Amino acid sequence: MPWKIGTLCLYGLFFQSLLPFVSEAADPEVLKQRVPQDQIAEARGWKNPFPSTPENLGKGKRVFHGKAFCVTCHGRDGKGLGKIPGLVGKLPRNFTDKTWQAARTDGELFWILKNGSPGTDMASFIPLVLSEEEAWHVLLYVRAFGN
Ligand code: HEC
Repeated sequence: MPWKIGTLCLYGLFFQSLLPFVSEAADPEVLKQRVPQDQIAEARGWKNPFPSTPENLGKGKRVFHGKAFCVTCHGRDGKGLGKIPGLVGKLPRNFTDKTWQAARTDGELFWILKNGSPGTDMASFIPLVLSEEEAWHVLLYVRAFGN
């Protein structure tokens, strides 16, 4: 029946329009809370003491590409590398995803740099690799991927 084909096409268009969301933001793993419930209120209260000036962003960029080797997993464009051997299913998220950016406070991201991200291969970086100051700078740079 001809009308059925029309209906199918409409469904097709509908699902296609959902695809960009399905492939990124709708992945529940991406938005899952990583900070334990008993620490989340405290972590969300932490504010980045450094303003996002070109100078501070530059410091964050140097950390991201340099001593903290964030770039090796999160990619030059912040989109993650897509496939890292041994990390299948736990791939770094896309830092340019605005839904993810909006879902996290700076304090939560800082908590993750301090403690690692439970359930993922993201390790703890403070204090072994980064000082707290360097961590806040690199987070300014992570935030800039969302602009
Ligand atoms: C060995 C690879 C690797 C390195 C190096 C690495 N990360 Fe990650 N990172 C991951 C993985 C895997 C995850 C977990 C999946 C995810 O959350 O994207 C993650 C998660 C994160 C998250 C949490 C995202 C969230 O909301 O849950 C942040 C923020 C982050 N990384 C920032 C950094 C920064 C900044 C650096 C450098 C200081 C860094 N990462 C270095 C692999 C890495």
